[in-house]
Amino acid sequence: MSTNTGLEGVVIGQTELSQINGELGELIYVGYDIDDLARNTTFEEVAFLLWNLRLPNQAELDGLKQELDAERGLSDEVVALLRSFPKDADAMAALRTAVSALALTDPEANDNSTEANRRQAIRLTAKMPTIIAAFDRIRKGREPVDPQTGVSTAANFLYMLNGEEAEELRARTLDAALVLHAEHGMNASTFAARVTAATLSDIYSAVVSAIGTLKGAAHGGANTRVMKMLDAIESSGTDPATWVQEALERKERVMGFGHRVYKATDPRATVLRELADQIMEGGQETRWLDLSDRVREAMSVEMEKSGKKIYPNVDFFSASVYTTLGIDTDLFTPIFAMSRVTGWTAHLFEQYANNRLIRPKADYVGPRGLRVAPIAER
Ligand SMILES: CC(C)(COP(=O)(O)OP(=O)(O)OC[C@H]1O[C@@H](n2cnc3c(N)ncnc32)[C@H](O)[C@@H]1OP(=O)(O)O)[C@@H](O)C(=O)NCCC(=O)NCCS
Repeated sequence: MSTNTGLEGVVIGQTELSQINGELGELIYVGYDIDDLARNTTFEEVAFLLWNLRLPNQAELDGLKQELDAERGLSDEVVALLRSFPKDADAMAALRTAVSALALTDPEANDNSTEANRRQAIRLTAKMPTIIAAFDRIRKGREPVDPQTGVSTAANFLYMLNGEEAEELRARTLDAALVLHAEHGMNASTFAARVTAATLSDIYSAVVSAIGTLKGAAHGGANTRVMKMLDAIESSGTDPATWVQEALERKERVMGFGHRVYKATDPRATVLRELADQIMEGGQETRWLDLSDRVREAMSVEMEKSGKKIYPNVDFFSASVYTTLGIDTDLFTPIFAMSRVTGWTAHLFEQYANNRLIRPKADYVGPRGLRVAPIAER
């Protein structure tokens, strides 16, 4: 049997949630093109779409928003846990730990019924932004801000982070970024979530597995590394084109470029870049986006020369957009998680509904026939 170490191209099941056409640079969620969704729906509508396989009508959307509002608050235990973390704790490790703790105070945590799973998905989606904002405020020596009701997840997050209501354009930009990150086929964190759920473990455990997987630099951690790279280019004073050339000569990967599935431009990067222009019109500073554009142009020239199909991915522009919104670099991946939790949980609904333990094999290539020698002789 042949070995496929990265499972590339291996189909492990069916899903009704999303499809990526990597060659054409297309992404659909439940039949809708990502471009259409990013421009014409909100994160809450997309959450409903992923959980119910159809867009909500106004009454259904209002109902979901009310359910989210009712679940946004954190228990005293979780806030106390956040206060106990070291001030320099890794933000994804903090999110992973706090999400794990949510299960301890959810009486339904071990109930895998369809209805309980739906309520847990709403709780996770409602509470993760509150956890991230509270973690950030506590580490900066500030008090957490209670969530508002009647506003979007994006506006609420910016409010809880900064302690003041966000301008509409800023909230709308973050909202679109959440739409763009909500779902993405059988990516590594979604697969990890499904593997965990396939053992009939609970939704919280599956989401904790997913958060741990998203944390890695080759997955969700890339957006943080994009910003560090932009920062390094700026502070080096080197021309971005020269910086890119030198990095490639050293055989380094330029963060925010390339994708296991997309071999054309990531469609999410295109929409996000356009939305970024809108915040700029709102008078925000443009330096990070200008620098991103110069790095993109330099990469395009270099990749043309080498004949490689390496294009910007969604992380490339989310980094400069989030920085322009005044968000700390290490919160980028947690923000990815607070959006993707909708996709993860939608996949978990599918997994529980048609479950089979996910248990592949490995080729054994180690020695055979060894005999245990007494320990004194080893
Ligand atoms: C995402 C990623 C892991 C996909 O990797 P992959 O599918 O294994 O791609 P491959 O390793 O097959 O890459 C093909 C070639 O392009 C090169 N390449 C891939 N991504 C590159 C990048 N970001 N910068 C420079 N070169 C890159 C590889 O070095 C390889 O070159 P080679 O054939 O000369 O060895 C990879 O592109 C990467 O590390 N990107 C940067 C991190 C990032 O942005 N991740 C977020 C993904 S959403």
